[in-house]
Amino acid sequence: MADISSHPIPRHVAIIMDGNGRWAAARGLPRVAGHREGAKAVRRAIEAAISSGVHYLTLFAFSSENWARPAEEVADLTFLMKHYLRSELKELHEQGVRLLVIGERERFGPVLAAELEAAETKTAENDRLVLVMALSYGGRADIVNAARKAMEAGIPPEELTEQKFARLLSTDGIPDPDLLIRTSGERRISNFLLWQLAYAELLFSPVLWPDFGAADFAASLEDYATRERRFGARPV
Ligand code: IPE
Ligand code: IPE
Ligand code: MG
Repeated sequence: MADISSHPIPRHVAIIMDGNGRWAAARGLPRVAGHREGAKAVRRAIEAAISSGVHYLTLFAFSSENWARPAEEVADLTFLMKHYLRSELKELHEQGVRLLVIGERERFGPVLAAELEAAETKTAENDRLVLVMALSYGGRADIVNAARKAMEAGIPPEELTEQKFARLLSTDGIPDPDLLIRTSGERRISNFLLWQLAYAELLFSPVLWPDFGAADFAASLEDYATRERRFGARPV
């Protein structure tokens, strides 16, 4: 049910990490340099989430549509993800971070897919922060997959409720995002969590993702704290 009481700290923050390419271009560097710097911003965001008491952090790292980028950039991104996972997993685990992956991880190949699964298993008992990485993720695909599962399970149409449907999405068990941040000044959803963002507060930051730091994260939470969430109910 809708909850209109105010919660100053969002339980779940989702971020569309955008602007790596423009960050690099502004410096005359190849796009991969922006992605590399973006990985450092991921680390900062995780730390900021932990220290501010956010419990779920979902990061959009690669969309279903990003496969349409040049093969070289896709290879760079895949390499960086693998490298990031290998170099950060130990520390993430020690920090009490639980890793969950949504999206079509198998499209990155069996090696990365298996390492992601092993990381999920290794961190499964951690509960300080749930870090959801959206990799080859598309909101529409998520909804279509859920619809397929409902049909395969033979759920009678009249018995399908929003609650039952949500349980078939890749985000089953994860509360909906309270706050969506998109960096780099773009103001669109780009096929991110279409179902789950129904009542998220939206925040568009002009900062390019590689420049996004603890202060920007804190400012976003401050902005969120001023929002009045009504969920369609009448303000009191
Ligand atoms: C975000 O940065 C990273 C991914 C989408 C993988 P971009 O690569 O989209 O950077 P811009 O938007 O071109 O600046
Ligand atoms: C969205 O950014 C996807 C990620 C940040 C992973 P894009 O840069 O791919 O989105 P568009 O093309 O500007 O909508
Ligand atoms: Mg972009």
